[in-house]
Amino acid sequence: MTLYLIGIGLSNEKDITVKGLEIVKKCDLIYLENYTSLLQCSKEDLEKFYGKEILLADRETTEQGDEKIIAEAKEQEIAFLVVGDPFSATTHVQLFKLAKEKNVKVEIIHNASVLTAVGEVGLELYKYGKTTSIPFLEDHPNLETPYNIIKKNKELHTLCLLDLKPQENKFMTIKEALEILEKIEERKQAGIISENTLVVGCARLGSENSIIKAGKIKDIKQFDFGQPPFCLIIPGKLHFVEEEVLKLFS
Ligand SMILES: C[S@@+](CC[C@H](N)C(=O)[O-])C[C@H]1O[C@@H](n2cnc3c(N)ncnc32)[C@H](O)[C@@H]1O
Repeated sequence: MTLYLIGIGLSNEKDITVKGLEIVKKCDLIYLENYTSLLQCSKEDLEKFYGKEILLADRETTEQGDEKIIAEAKEQEIAFLVVGDPFSATTHVQLFKLAKEKNVKVEIIHNASVLTAVGEVGLELYKYGKTTSIPFLEDHPNLETPYNIIKKNKELHTLCLLDLKPQENKFMTIKEALEILEKIEERKQAGIISENTLVVGCARLGSENSIIKAGKIKDIKQFDFGQPPFCLIIPGKLHFVEEEVLKLFS
């Protein structure tokens, strides 16, 4: 018996790989981790396309129910579906580690991730520094980390993932994220963020209606990106080719 950690991509039910789909079809139980990212289709769309019933795994099911899932995988074929890639910007390495410790066979089926989809904006992936997340200020009123990371990344680009609480239908917008960075700038005064700082906002990457918009903070704050999920890039030093590609999105 095996625990399969399967990336289902970024957009809709058709983004699963052929290999992933074949495995899902033969599994006894299928969990969908639905609290770290968001697809552009519903659980029902996935169920219809996969021809299988899906159990939603919220943060509690996963982080406290790891033992249960591993125990099930000793007796049955279990698929654990993750939006994007199972190991990109998620915490599922815990589940993987526990499976290994309990001698449960684990197979990983990779897929596209936001960490690779941002390649579309034309900034070289190998010129990114540390990725950061911007959490809701209500949970972190004294937040400084994303600002410090942007500062430390210096000439490297910074990808900012934006907080989301899908159970509450709450997704941080690009405007909110920029306002948070501006607030931290007011406090820290290190000259990292100003209304003229060049940023790139991205919405629904990997889907047919994705949006990429590059511009000054003051302009990007006014731009309507539509539905989530969103991420934000603070470019570092630009190579002339990067500059030319960014112009296409301005
Ligand atoms: C914790 S990461 C999960 C990454 C996922 N496992 C993956 O491989 O893509 C989720 C965050 O990435 C960003 N994100 C995910 N998918 C996105 C997309 N299609 N377009 C823009 N941003 C996205 C959002 O900021 C979201 O809050």
